[in-house]
Amino acid sequence: MDTILNNIHEYGYAVIEDALPEGVIERLLTDCLENQPDFKAAGIGRRQDSQLNEQIRKDKTLWLTGASTAQADFMALTDELRLEVNRNFFLGLFDYECHYATYEVGDFYKKHLDAFKGKSNRVFTTVCYLNTPDAGGELLIYAQDSDEVIARVAPKAGSLVVFESERFPHEVLVAGSARYSIAGWFRMNNSIVGTIDPPS
Ligand code: OGA
Ligand code: MN
Repeated sequence: MDTILNNIHEYGYAVIEDALPEGVIERLLTDCLENQPDFKAAGIGRRQDSQLNEQIRKDKTLWLTGASTAQADFMALTDELRLEVNRNFFLGLFDYECHYATYEVGDFYKKHLDAFKGKSNRVFTTVCYLNTPDAGGELLIYAQDSDEVIARVAPKAGSLVVFESERFPHEVLVAGSARYSIAGWFRMNNSIVGTIDPPS
């Protein structure tokens, strides 16, 4: 927990290996695999143009509801993180939303931001990896307003990445084998922002 908080404080992002207990990761992966039939092509913002969409991202997603023990355990852990982040940074993060994401061979997610200043109440993005793909699927984190790659993360089961949603453009490189993860967002209850979050 201290590593996460220190790195967020110093750099605005954190990459932590073995962040979650192995048993939890195994159960989440099983849950994720069992639910594959319900996964849907992911959307981007409000653009429902599926052709345009496919040029930007090719993953399939399913929102977690807490319905299974694995999901409930994960949400209990992220809630601990939410409270610690609030306590340390004097923030009022009030909510966490997350979805499973499946990248099949050849799938990718081009460089993007998860939130735009004043347009979203997403404050921190989290990505938790459920398996270790044999090849590809690296997460690239870019410096703010730049093409400079500041972190290159090879997905590994149990690793957790946290970063400021408005600050870091990022990208998922083409997956060379199936890649399973949970992407999530800690949100601020920002009533000034009249816009509804795009259904990721
Ligand atoms: C996302 C995302 C990164 C990853 O789902 O918005 O950027 O490494 N995911 O899966
Ligand atoms: Mn993203």
